[in-house]
Amino acid sequence: MKKIVVAIDGYSSSGKSTMARELARRVGYVYVDSGAMYRAVTLYALEHGMIENGKVDRERLAAALPGISITFEPAGADGVQHTLLNGRDVEREIRDMQVSENVSRVAEIPEVRERLVRIQQEYGVRKGIVMDGRDIGTTVFPDAEMKVFVDASPEERARRRLLELEQKGEKVNYEEVLDNIRTRDRIDTTRAVSPLRKADDAHVLDNDHMTHREQSEWLLNLFHTIVNEK
Ligand code: CDP
Repeated sequence: MKKIVVAIDGYSSSGKSTMARELARRVGYVYVDSGAMYRAVTLYALEHGMIENGKVDRERLAAALPGISITFEPAGADGVQHTLLNGRDVEREIRDMQVSENVSRVAEIPEVRERLVRIQQEYGVRKGIVMDGRDIGTTVFPDAEMKVFVDASPEERARRRLLELEQKGEKVNYEEVLDNIRTRDRIDTTRAVSPLRKADDAHVLDNDHMTHREQSEWLLNLFHTIVNEK
């Protein structure tokens, strides 16, 4: 069967990573979480004192980029693919609130985007890939055969993210999470380079009132429709 590229974009905590990962598993494709790559660069910048009071030292970070390697380790016993920063497993740390609070500022930096987009495009050369993020259908893979744009209200997304953080034992409150989501939405949609926006040819999935199962089925049906038309 002919392999395609699947691009899934959307707002923060819209559930796109879960959907993308599951689709990849069901159809035997490679899954790449592009947000994890921006998060790993953010963790690096935090650890090297390149972020102070939310302000990123763009020059130092741009100069350090050639020395930052981000790779993925296949899903382990927990079923989760782990992100490695210079060979170190940082899967847990990159999901912390501190990283969430700074990632959108790092993701605005053109040098960072240029480098990560190039790495992401290499993953797509052989097709058979599902990638999720903010600019996958617009910038990384503008020719992707299947594009999905996921949307849900900020309140619903905050509820989901809060649950996720609580399950990991992080102490945060709803207002704090909602505030972070709103701030990232604003920065992500208004930045100069590759802002978050729906690609003209993307299929929209508003999953506010959909169960996990319903959205998985919706995605899988769309995938089969597109592959069979090829
Ligand atoms: O998991 P969540 O939806 O909160 O976000 P993520 O997918 O892990 O992405 C974290 C942040 O990275 C986003 O808020 C964006 O600022 C940035 N990002 C981006 O700019 N471009 C991408 N392709 C993916 C993420």
